[in-house]
Amino acid sequence: MRPPLDSGTVLITGASSGVGREIARQLAHRARTLVLVSHALEPLKALQEELHASNPTLGIMLLPCDISRPGEVGDMLSELSRHFITVDVLVSAASASEQGLFVEQRWGSVERMLTVNVVAPMLLIRRLLGPMLARGQGGLLCIGAGASQLFLPGSAAYVGTRRCLDGFLESLRLEVEGSGVVVTQVSPGPVLDAALQAEGAHAEASPLFHVSVERCARAALEGFERSEPLVYPGWGHRWVMTLLPRLPRSVRRALGRWVGRGLQEPSGADMPALLGNARPALESNPSLA
Ligand SMILES: NC(=O)c1ccc[n+]([C@@H]2O[C@H](COP(=O)([O-])OP(=O)(O)OC[C@H]3O[C@@H](n4cnc5c(N)ncnc54)[C@H](OP(=O)(O)O)[C@@H]3O)[C@@H](O)[C@H]2O)c1
Repeated sequence: MRPPLDSGTVLITGASSGVGREIARQLAHRARTLVLVSHALEPLKALQEELHASNPTLGIMLLPCDISRPGEVGDMLSELSRHFITVDVLVSAASASEQGLFVEQRWGSVERMLTVNVVAPMLLIRRLLGPMLARGQGGLLCIGAGASQLFLPGSAAYVGTRRCLDGFLESLRLEVEGSGVVVTQVSPGPVLDAALQAEGAHAEASPLFHVSVERCARAALEGFERSEPLVYPGWGHRWVMTLLPRLPRSVRRALGRWVGRGLQEPSGADMPALLGNARPALESNPSLA
């Protein structure tokens, strides 16, 4: 069973940057229509120009939307219905993450992580899955994070949102087994996008755990097409993530303690690179409230 990527309509959240944008690029010569969703319109317009330059026949619809607001998600889906657009595949790649001790985080930031990482994908899936099941084909490709399998001081709320989606997607996949709808979860480790590479982050990157955004997107799409339940991009990351759940919980706690060491130090300590979105704790906590 393969998800209907070729000549289908693919809705991508988080399309303005990172993995979501790269998936849009890699589908530009395969999909019939891409529906690109993100908070801001300008980066979507730039992407539209780029994609049209490489494939002038590609249908592109831009839907700027704050998916942390369920009302806006509803309006966005109504807009699609108004244009008689049927979504064949949902790629959920939008995310919100913030590091810091939970007790010090603003509630607005925590709430944003919950709504962007959990409520919005569930709501989109809730609205799009029924019609996919009725057609007997469809696909849900959800980009999560390897952090879902970790105990990670300094990222407690973020890890919580990722763990929640992990359980949801694994269970949902079983609910729709045999229906023609493919459910694939991608749990990357650290991903190097162009901006990070420009900042020179690649110099510090471990070739064992870091993957480029292109490789991450390719691994996601390949795993999705093979109808894999869970994809860990990059062999080093895959190896660690396959081993981790086999370790006793006490060992995983000790690992988390080691990773979070120095959290209370004034400068904050660098966390090892294997933690994906878990960038140095307490280094900067932009207020999202
Ligand atoms: N990058 C990594 O190292 C890494 C590691 C592990 C897992 N991941 C996972 O991979 C996925 C993609 O990550 P990324 O780093 O590539 O993403 P990113 O570059 O940080 O982009 C996040 C995307 O989400 C959108 N978004 C955030 N809040 C939104 C909102 N309220 N409404 C609408 N759109 C919103 C952003 O749009 P705007 O810019 O318009 O707000 C942007 O397009 C995420 O699920 C992430 O957790 C990434």
